[in-house]
Amino acid sequence: MVNNGYSAAKRTMMVGPFSCSGASLHWSGQGVILDGQEIIRRCRLLAEQTEEPGHITRTYLSPPMHEVHRIVRCWMEDAGLTAYVDDVGNLRGVYGDGPRLMIASHLDTVPHAGAFDGILGVTIAIALVEQRPPCSIEVAAFSEEEGVRFGVPFIGSRALVGDPVMDAGVLAAISHFGLDPARIPEAVLDPEVKGYLEFHIEQGPVLENLRAPVGVVEAIAGMSRWELRFDGKANHAGTTPMNLRRDALACAAEWIGLVEHVAQTTDGLVATVGKIDVLPGAGNVIPGLVTASLDVRHALDEVRERALNVMLDGAEHIARRRELSVTGESRLEQAAVALDFETVEEAVRCCGLPVHRMVSGAGHDAMILAQKLPAAMLFVRSPGGISHHPDESVLAEDVDAALAVGAHVIRMWTS
Ligand code: HGY
Ligand code: MN
Ligand code: MN
Repeated sequence: MVNNGYSAAKRTMMVGPFSCSGASLHWSGQGVILDGQEIIRRCRLLAEQTEEPGHITRTYLSPPMHEVHRIVRCWMEDAGLTAYVDDVGNLRGVYGDGPRLMIASHLDTVPHAGAFDGILGVTIAIALVEQRPPCSIEVAAFSEEEGVRFGVPFIGSRALVGDPVMDAGVLAAISHFGLDPARIPEAVLDPEVKGYLEFHIEQGPVLENLRAPVGVVEAIAGMSRWELRFDGKANHAGTTPMNLRRDALACAAEWIGLVEHVAQTTDGLVATVGKIDVLPGAGNVIPGLVTASLDVRHALDEVRERALNVMLDGAEHIARRRELSVTGESRLEQAAVALDFETVEEAVRCCGLPVHRMVSGAGHDAMILAQKLPAAMLFVRSPGGISHHPDESVLAEDVDAALAVGAHVIRMWTS
């Protein structure tokens, strides 16, 4: 590792900026100790790497990902990890040799995101390696979990379990980023990796209401992601009588009301139409074509699937009555996943913290790695219960608590 003065400086009084692998990092104060406060500072530093000035938006292999890789790689190498970028764009680092524990999360964000979703787990993983654990660790900073750019989530982690996303658009993005799609199979998990651990913000209000700094994730809800297309007929907004219209947006709006009603009347179900595109998109033209996303989640797969069928049948029924056509395309069918929470729960207890087991309504890379490895997650409290929003935050003392639990998990995993 090239010593650019960064490591040496880290151990002494730091003032002013200095460069680290081309990324200028600004440190000040009593040196750099990877505690909760420093981890939060690093997350906020990475938040400046965005494709949308004024917002935090970083989608799959977008240009700012080059700078994110440069900065995070510097942190990885300084912590003693041997870092590399695989050909799906995951930034990976290995510490030590022999059987190892993977500690990971993702680098990408939703549009107009907060500073901690995904990134917090990556920076906590690096901090745990900084503590010189008694075993080999692999840190993975996944290139894409949210599914924003191509509508398909988990592009980064799916490659590790031998189920890569091979859409033409994804392969073109990989080449454009300077990677080699032909080498995607090399991204698969090393057989030496024996377990998976992910730290992540809760992204909800439960831990805050319980006044608990961390939460033990016992399962991750299953999710269905679809894209529906309502085909009507564009026409003049002023001359077309109401009874002669085939308004695609009015049809989609009625259907969205049905989606909300089904979710409101099914215990534990959440459903969201988060993205809608209207064509031709002029105020004086009756919408002829609407594409709408659909995101349906529940802890029980049979409940989710039943509700999804009601929503899809409902779309057909509403469209038929309005003399439109509707088609749907599944973008993801992800079953609910039970996690191996026992070790993490015991570590939380040993650290003298309140133990709260919970199901995650948010999807995570852990549900992909769980196909191949014993997988566990620890949630960190989300003040205000807010996420996928600039107000997303964490408390330094809660991150310190997560670090203590992580160090304990590693010791238990090693023994
Ligand atoms: O959408 C989710 O569940 C997560 O934030 N990717
Ligand atoms: Mn997210
Ligand atoms: Mn996330």
